[in-house]
Amino acid sequence: MNIGILGSGDVAKSLAQGFLQQGHAVMLGTRDIHKLSEWQRTYDKAKLGNVAATAQFGEVLVLAVKGTAAAAVLRDAGNANLKGKIVIDTTNPLADKPPVNGVLQFFTDMNLALMEKLQAEFPDVRFVKAFNSVGSARMVQPKYTDGTPTMFICGNDDSAKQTVSKLVQALGWEVADMGKAEAARAIEPLCMLWCILGFKDNEWTHAFKLLRK
Ligand SMILES: NC(=O)c1ccc[n+]([C@@H]2O[C@H](COP(=O)([O-])OP(=O)(O)OC[C@H]3O[C@@H](n4cnc5c(N)ncnc54)[C@H](OP(=O)(O)O)[C@@H]3O)[C@@H](O)[C@H]2O)c1
Repeated sequence: MNIGILGSGDVAKSLAQGFLQQGHAVMLGTRDIHKLSEWQRTYDKAKLGNVAATAQFGEVLVLAVKGTAAAAVLRDAGNANLKGKIVIDTTNPLADKPPVNGVLQFFTDMNLALMEKLQAEFPDVRFVKAFNSVGSARMVQPKYTDGTPTMFICGNDDSAKQTVSKLVQALGWEVADMGKAEAARAIEPLCMLWCILGFKDNEWTHAFKLLRK
């Protein structure tokens, strides 16, 4: 599969590495490809380009940019390049404000998630929330003595979620589908909970697991 990753940060690089290992063709999209030159020396199969070219390349896209820039980056990608495509939304709506006692501040409120806003602005895109509540270092083939961690996902399109579930499982996760886009109101704040523990214990390798029985 051709996977276009919009972003150049730790999440983009980690998922690119994981998808390359799985045999996918990967392109990363950024405003400045030079910032990925050194990384690409190790991952020389990865293509680099601007955001629009990367969106055009990807059959499946990953949105891995700062939450405040998410909508602008999708506008740069262009509606024609996005139309009908799956976008795996890894973003969190972090405000440009410091955490309060280790609790991140969001620019959204509890009744309207960032992914819902993106879905409303780009109705032809099939958004699936995933990867937002684990650190980039443990996104690919995470290993825990306590078992396989759970990736909470949501989105309006069932076939998109099936495709994303297979991709997420191949990266070593079990998947819990939490329903439609509104469920992002609960999934996005999981990153707050994840970071609280990080700030408290200065330990950033944990992941969530859903226990049913
Ligand atoms: N870091 C983690 O461990 C982690 C874990 C889970 C979820 N997340 C979420 O995943 C997303 C990516 O995180 P990250 O840590 O990899 O990267 P980041 O530092 O949050 O963001 C870097 C990316 O955002 C883009 N960006 C920043 N400001 C922009 C602007 N004004 N206009 C256009 N693009 C802009 C950059 O684009 P250019 O390449 O063009 O500069 C770059 O690709 C975030 O929403 C974050 O909350 C992060």
